[in-house]
Amino acid sequence: MAPRLLPFGSDPVRPAPPTPVTITVDGETTTGVTGQSLAGVILGSGTLGFRRTSANNAPRGVFCGIGVCFDCLVEVNGQRDVRACQRRASSGDVVVTQHDDLPGGEGE
Ligand code: FES
Repeated sequence: MAPRLLPFGSDPVRPAPPTPVTITVDGETTTGVTGQSLAGVILGSGTLGFRRTSANNAPRGVFCGIGVCFDCLVEVNGQRDVRACQRRASSGDVVVTQHDDLPGGEGE
């Protein structure tokens, strides 16, 4: 174990047990802990591609992690274009990965 990874019981910053947060990503249920961003919970589930580009259908996921690049856009509870790295996960969140076709059907 790395010296910075304290066992849960001896961590002075977070003495209470973590509260689980359960969300769904494209219909699959996944669990994180209170305080995690949606990106953290999604990554923890093993999903790396959060959306696909319009032009080349290329996968995009967390790149900057600080709300600058917009590569982590997902739909959350019916609201599109949410930056997963900037939104805290809340139990019951329904996350859907995004893809927008170019106008006229190009890029499909
Ligand atoms: S990862 Fe860059 S805005 Fe979310």
